[in-house]
Formats: sequence, structure tokens, C-alpha cells
Amino acid sequence: MSILDSTRDAMRRDQVWSFLQEHEQKVDISHQVLLYVEGLNLSFDGFKALNDLNLYINDGELRCLIGANGAGKTTLMDVITGKTQCDSGSVYFGQSINLLDKDEAEIAQLGIGRKFQKPTVFEAHTVMDNLELSLKSNKSVLPTLLAVLNGEEYDRIDEVLETIGLKGERMMLAGSLSHGQKQWLEIGMLLMANPRLLLVDEPVAGMTVQEGERTAELLTSLAGERTVVVEHDMEFVRSIAQTVTVLHQGSVLAEGSMDEIQNNQDVIEVYLGEAP
Ligand SMILES: Nc1ncnc2c1ncn2[C@@H]1O[C@H](COP(=O)(O)OP(=O)(O)OP(=O)(O)O)[C@@H](O)[C@H]1O
Ligand SMILES: [Mg+2]
Repeated sequence: MSILDSTRDAMRRDQVWSFLQEHEQKVDISHQVLLYVEGLNLSFDGFKALNDLNLYINDGELRCLIGANGAGKTTLMDVITGKTQCDSGSVYFGQSINLLDKDEAEIAQLGIGRKFQKPTVFEAHTVMDNLELSLKSNKSVLPTLLAVLNGEEYDRIDEVLETIGLKGERMMLAGSLSHGQKQWLEIGMLLMANPRLLLVDEPVAGMTVQEGERTAELLTSLAGERTVVVEHDMEFVRSIAQTVTVLHQGSVLAEGSMDEIQNNQDVIEVYLGEAP
């Protein structure tokens, strides 16, 4: 198509520009379940990293995933977010969206955000700029094409700054934040896209005790409106005290409240060992 043709095409009165189109597919949570993972299998050179894994996460839930090193927690998140393909099984977002049909970008677009362990903020930019940049990199949002933020976007940034507790640091360079603050900023950058499901990998690794406590509060405050799945160690999970899923050798070993998990015989044997 020539430039003239494509310009004409873009100017058609019946044309709906892609940035104005509704990108978010409706997620059917009529059964209260936001994420269905069923019969998931994945082998690496014959080693079963995921082994007939079944997991159901309710809408608005804060779920903690624990398990020894190599239990399959990160691999599970990789499959959910389209980073890694599984050998068999199914993963549905709500009742009707098959995530295994989608690539990483499409999955992110559906409202699934992933926070990796290491913070990846733009160190040479201010806290505020970092949030603004993440707003602009979200292709479904109109301001991609506009240089100036509108009032609504300012409000959104303000709201996120409040949530992550960095209002007073908005003009600071991200590089000068503490490790914990960088982690919160990155969570804030994910929140700018307003995800429905947030997958968070070891959020308090390397944080001070105080920062860890604030992170627990932050993640707890996010649940309800959105669904949060946190991968972490027993100590941190105890401080959140929500439903816990224990993975072991690529399968779900136990699921329940912290009390139930700590008293579960299988868990005591294979995961907690001598220190329940
Ligand atoms: N790309 C890969 N190639 C080969 N083996 C892999 C690959 N990714 C993961 N594995 C293996 O799969 C298993 C599960 O790893 P995974 O990272 O999911 O565990 P985890 O529960 O997140 O552990 P950790 O607590 O250490 O983060 C491990 O034995 C790991 O070595
Ligand atoms: Mg891991």
C-alpha cells in the first residue's frame, strides 16, 4: 500500500484507530476463578519441571506459592506469561481465554503483569518519569501519541505513587532509591497498566526487615481489586498469611492456610524437613 493509500485509509470516517480500540478482552469470571491451570506438564531433557500441575486462583485473591529450590514455581509463572511453552495441559484466564494460544505480548495486554526478582527501573530517570514511561509503553493507551500528560494520567500516577508509598520521592532519580524502594517503583510501573493478575517473584529478597513488612502490606492492599500471586519463602508468606500453595517436584503438594500447611504431614516431610 502506498503512503497516499495508507493515509487515505487512516482518514476514512469509519476508521477506528488502533489506539482507540478496546484491547482488553472481557474476562469471564462467572465461576469466581480468574486463573485455571490444569494438567500442566513440562520436561527439560527428560527432567519433569512441571508434573501434572493443577492450580486454580480466584479473582481478587492473594495467593502465595512456596516450594524448595527447583520445585517449579518460576517455570509455572513462565508458562502462564507465555515465556515458556509447556508440553501439555491447559491454562485459561477466566473461563474462555486460552493463554496457551497467546504470545507474551498478548498475555501482558490481557492484563497479566509479571514482576521479576531483580528490579529493572530506569535509574537515570526520576520516579515520576519511570511511571510515565511505563504508561507510554503500554501501547493500548492513547498517550503513546501525545507528548503531554492529561489530568487523568497525572491522577493515575499520583494514585500509584500513593499506593507504593513513594509520593515524597517522586522527583528523586530512581538510581538513588533504596533496593526496597526500587522494587516498589517497579510494582508501581506494572500497576500503571492496571493489571488484573500480578505475578510477583521473590519480592522481598535483599530487603531490610522493615522494607519486607511494607512490601507485605503493599501486596495485601493490592489484592481484592486485582489478583496477586507471590512466589516466596516461608517466612515472608507467614507474614502475609493467606492461602498457600506448596509446590514439590513440579506438582501441588498441599494447599491451604498457613496453619494447615504447617501441620500437613507431606509438607513437613518433604519441604519443611526438621524445622516446621
Ligand atoms: N530452561 C531450562 N532448562 C533446563 N532446566 C530448567 C530450565 N528452567 C528451569 N529448569 C529446571 O526446572 C526446575 C524447576 O525450576 P524453577 O526455576 O521453576 O524452580 P523454582 O521453584 O522457581 O526454584 P527457586 O526457588 O530456586 O526459584 C529446576 O530443576 C530447574 O533447573
Ligand atoms: Mg524461582
